[in-house]
Amino acid sequence: MGYKASFRVWRGDDTDGELQDYTVEVNEGEVVLDIIHRLQATQAPDLAVRWNCKAGKCGSCSAEINGRPRLLCMTRMSVFDEDEVITVTPMRTFPVIRDLVTDVSFNYTKAREIPSFTPPADLKPGDYRMQQVDVERSQEFRKCIECFLCQNTCHVVRDHEENKEAFAGPRYLMRIAELEMHPLDVADRRDAAQEEHGLGYCNITKCCTEVCPEGIHITDNALIPMKERVADRKYDPIVWLGNKLFRR
Ligand code: SF4
Ligand code: F3S
Ligand code: FES
Repeated sequence: MGYKASFRVWRGDDTDGELQDYTVEVNEGEVVLDIIHRLQATQAPDLAVRWNCKAGKCGSCSAEINGRPRLLCMTRMSVFDEDEVITVTPMRTFPVIRDLVTDVSFNYTKAREIPSFTPPADLKPGDYRMQQVDVERSQEFRKCIECFLCQNTCHVVRDHEENKEAFAGPRYLMRIAELEMHPLDVADRRDAAQEEHGLGYCNITKCCTEVCPEGIHITDNALIPMKERVADRKYDPIVWLGNKLFRR
């Protein structure tokens, strides 16, 4: 059965904004994105929202619902009480462009900073051979839809604009782990992970993992193993001696 829901939606741009109240119809089986679309169709034709697939696969519709980072298209209205006020705000970590749309270019910058897949020099494309067992671990990370909810949630940058320069964020630290675990990647990414991409800032709070709509175990399966690899290298007595002797 349909009912009328109370919504509070953040409206504004990069200079100013505020929450605006709306009462809007909800029908059975709908998700929050349906309600946002109904608002556009009936009361707020200029309401800006980014979306594409409405199937939890394009990663475009990320926002915060009652303060929790979520995909608008994968959040069912049935998880809320009918008399609950539902507040929808843009992702907090990125600059607002307008209404629910944020500028996520921080993430593209971080993606570009990671050296790409580096196969052995004598191996030509087409000659790559891998066993399923070799790619098992990193395959999970390929499920990422780049919604940036984990990037938005991590406290290292969420309240600390000043850390953005030095911290790649969970999604891109996971990318480094994925390449590090790749059976054909010959680049050693451990020093760079720590020194250039800010792995040491992560204190494994696991908030990134909690919000990942793909259910990727970012912390347990990517970040902690990557930290272990970095620690192995850092505290390996041979490496330590080599660094003392040759890196001055
Ligand atoms: Fe989104 Fe998960 Fe990918 Fe992070 S790791 S960008 S939360 S899909
Ligand atoms: Fe941030 Fe995730 Fe680490 S939330 S602190 S990257 S475990
Ligand atoms: Fe594609 Fe929500 S619209 S993930």
